[in-house]
Amino acid sequence: MLTDLPTVKQTAVYVYQTPVRIWHWVNALSITVLAITGYLIGSPLPTLPGEASDHYLMGNIRFFHFAAAYFFMVGFIFRIYWAIVGNSYSHQLFTLPFWRKRFWSELVHEVRWYAFLEKEPRKYIGHNPLAHLFMVVIITVGGLVMIVTGMALYSEQTGLGSWQDDLFGWVIPFVGQSQDVRMWHHWGMWVIVVFVMLHVYTAIREDIMSRQSLISTMISGWRMFKDDRP
Ligand code: HEM
Ligand code: HEM
Repeated sequence: MLTDLPTVKQTAVYVYQTPVRIWHWVNALSITVLAITGYLIGSPLPTLPGEASDHYLMGNIRFFHFAAAYFFMVGFIFRIYWAIVGNSYSHQLFTLPFWRKRFWSELVHEVRWYAFLEKEPRKYIGHNPLAHLFMVVIITVGGLVMIVTGMALYSEQTGLGSWQDDLFGWVIPFVGQSQDVRMWHHWGMWVIVVFVMLHVYTAIREDIMSRQSLISTMISGWRMFKDDRP
């Protein structure tokens, strides 16, 4: 006996491999830069005195948006590659087991747990079903929408004949016109911002209230279970 304080036996599973963790934090940083600079592109700061080309304020804001966009896009492609070669939990971001009845019953349980209607949290090695569903819909599908609409807007600037125009130019007439694409791109930002707020709240809440570690898991890769009950 090391102490007379209450003790529990913990178990740990290595869930998030190094590339997934690096991707998570690089992706979080690039989305933060994209949301701030994107907001400033949509609602520009007051005009500064002097020649715009001298202070180049909007130019710099746009440069940071495009630089972060490339980090986001290369990261997205890399994450697809890692879902193919990584461990079984690395697939979760791109797959939803919607044909499994258990997934849906656990999803209902998680909604009730988050709403403080359940007393006993369940154990999950990977994402819980509610987190899983939101990550696939908002980050995978939503991220793809942001890439396609963002590249379509970008192709207007790189011009006819550019690879951006060859690959994404069709999106503008498909959606309607340039301003419609801009509107969807802008709305996408708010959807992602709301996701990030809920995500950070639930990560902290679950770290405290659930039966497993959360934030340290996305840092070290190891999921610690706070008790050895099934
Ligand atoms: C999470 C990802 C992203 C977020 C949150 C985001 C957000 C935004 C927002 C809010 C705007 C302003 C729209 C408006 O005029 O109201 C914008 C503009 C723009 N974004 Fe993004 N964006 C993201 C990803 C991308 C990507 C991947 C690209 C690809 C290159 C991109 C390219 C652009 C372009 C070209 C513009 C228009 C710039 C201008 O008209 O000066 N964005 N973005
Ligand atoms: C822009 C900000 C962020 C975005 C877009 C984001 C997105 C994501 C995504 C997509 C995953 C799934 C990872 C995968 O399966 O590959 C994830 C997991 C996770 N994120 Fe974030 N994240 C952000 C910020 C944060 C922050 C600030 C924290 C810490 C407070 C955090 C904590 C976590 C944790 C703990 C997990 C693992 C959840 C689990 O164990 O089931 N995230 N995040």
